[in-house]
Amino acid sequence: MAERFDVKLIEKEKRYYPDPSYKENAWVKDYQKMYDEFIADPSAFWGKIAEELDWFSTWDRVMEWNYPYARWFLNAKLNITYNCLDRHAKNHRRNKAALIWRGENGEQRIYTYQQLYKAVMRCANGLKNLGVKKGDCVCIYMPLIPEQLIVMLACARIGAVHSVVFGGFGVSALNTRINDAQAKIVVTADIAMRRGKSIPLKSVVEDALINAPSVEKVVVLRRREPLVELQDMEIDYQEMIRDVPPECPPEVMDAEDTLFILYTSGSTGTPKGVVHTCGGYMVGTYYTTKNIFDLKENDVYWCTADPGWITGHSYILYGPLAAGATVFITELTPDFPDPGSWWKLIEDEGITVFYTAPTAIRMFMKMGESWPKKYNLGSLRILGSVGEPLNPEAFEWYYHVIGGGRCPIVDTWWQTETGMQMITTMIGEPMKPGFAGKPIPGVVADVITKDGKSVPPGKGGFLVIKEPWPAMLRTVYKNDERYRKYWYTLDNVYMAGDLAVKDAEGYIMILGRADDIIIVAGHNIGTAEVESALVSHKAVAEAAVIGKPDPVRGNIIKAFVILRVGFRAGEKLVSELQYHVRMMLGPIAVPSEIEFVDKLPKTRSGKIMRRVLKAKELGMDPGDISTLEE
Ligand code: WT7
Repeated sequence: MAERFDVKLIEKEKRYYPDPSYKENAWVKDYQKMYDEFIADPSAFWGKIAEELDWFSTWDRVMEWNYPYARWFLNAKLNITYNCLDRHAKNHRRNKAALIWRGENGEQRIYTYQQLYKAVMRCANGLKNLGVKKGDCVCIYMPLIPEQLIVMLACARIGAVHSVVFGGFGVSALNTRINDAQAKIVVTADIAMRRGKSIPLKSVVEDALINAPSVEKVVVLRRREPLVELQDMEIDYQEMIRDVPPECPPEVMDAEDTLFILYTSGSTGTPKGVVHTCGGYMVGTYYTTKNIFDLKENDVYWCTADPGWITGHSYILYGPLAAGATVFITELTPDFPDPGSWWKLIEDEGITVFYTAPTAIRMFMKMGESWPKKYNLGSLRILGSVGEPLNPEAFEWYYHVIGGGRCPIVDTWWQTETGMQMITTMIGEPMKPGFAGKPIPGVVADVITKDGKSVPPGKGGFLVIKEPWPAMLRTVYKNDERYRKYWYTLDNVYMAGDLAVKDAEGYIMILGRADDIIIVAGHNIGTAEVESALVSHKAVAEAAVIGKPDPVRGNIIKAFVILRVGFRAGEKLVSELQYHVRMMLGPIAVPSEIEFVDKLPKTRSGKIMRRVLKAKELGMDPGDISTLEE
């Protein structure tokens, strides 16, 4: 059905030509020239970028493509932390701030490159003492504090595979991820701070470990006084790093060794463990961070994501540190202590590059201009967006109210699977509200029909990537079949799962997910996980969830529930089910609306047809219903 609709929005496009001086001073001065160079010789293009980084030994070949498997920087040896730490700490960036953290009540912590380097080596040695070896999986379930990043780097230092689980996930979600990855160690903290309240993390880990035999030890960072008591298998973080040697040489990693696993929701089945490797991922995130955010030596860069998502992996940690940036992070939410909190941070810290999500921008719009107007945002020079389409209205607001009409906006399209940004409008190119932009040099993307034909301007189709790229996922952990699906659903191309449309100049507008995944406040929530959580409640026989458009959160979750005999529908049960999902999966996955029904629309093979439910709910045409039962 995707190839049959016209997109009206495209006609309303407006353009912004930012100050041409941006192009003069930017790393990328001529997008088209750079793109042409890439197309002429992709290996030479990527090889040249890789040479900006440090390798223990260099590659035999830049890339080998054995559809659908790619290998990058063949036989090259490296350690990503050497590029993020050693090479800065040992030269002119030694005393430059690598990390600036702000907590509640004005708390602040700053790490210079040298200090971060030392903290990572101690943590790495601590993990080694616990028996962590190259290839072992460490699950990180922590709040947004410097140690969260330090532990990630410490894993990479010794070749352990990290699997970061966002602190907003609950017991069952954490348990599934620990078991799938067979994590040997879990690193957590006693609490996270959120809006002045402490949120327990350690107790969630305790419950998640009830059926998780792979876990040998839990490391607990204790933030609160008096110190929380530790159980048998738990060890104190400070204790772990106390008597360790200060130096930890970087493990020599092959370019294709696994760097991390990160779970992302699928529309069916369990979450997918997306596997990223060391060499290509380093090159891809370094290149995009430097060139898309146009990072310069004096920038103070703030990406508001949590490291529990890919955005945090690629654009808080690895990309920016490889580029030698000053990275700002905070545990403060945008609405605490008041809706000016983030704008105050921008003024206080002199943030120059700011990267956030449309859901946050829409929330700020709702609260009004008076909040940002209270602060001097003059330090900003580049604004970024990621996670969902940046609606033209949100673009205008972001550009004028936050950027003061001075700052280019980079609306970056990419995915957990792509590892790096793929489509955007490079600094100095004309921006079109509503359009992410064009594929960046290094990426071959298109919008095509089911038969593989490029769609004409204004027609919707499937967003695909036609050539391998260095930071692409290598597989889905222990489920290569799911990896192959990305490349075999449509012939010879990577199917991103999004619908999109192109204009006459090749600018791409993203229309949303082609499948059932629901994006709530910028987070992808798989229908299957929420439904399974509902069904695990004693009153529920069957459940189906859909996303309903919401002006602030992008979507909210609506659940349709069939009750078991003997249970009564009602308000009380609605809150009970919401509580149940919150306990299992965390607050982001809770359905805002629950409707009790007698029947669900299904295919002949027994699959629930969510799009039929959705069409009915929104009063739209359900499309092809030939597979519908009865
Ligand atoms: C999906 C990937 C990659 C970081 C965060 C999400 C949607 C992402 C944009 C954008 C429109 C976007 C897509 C994509 N998405 N960026 N700039 N414009 N949609 O990572 O959880 O793997 O989700 O997020 O639907 O497929 P993710």
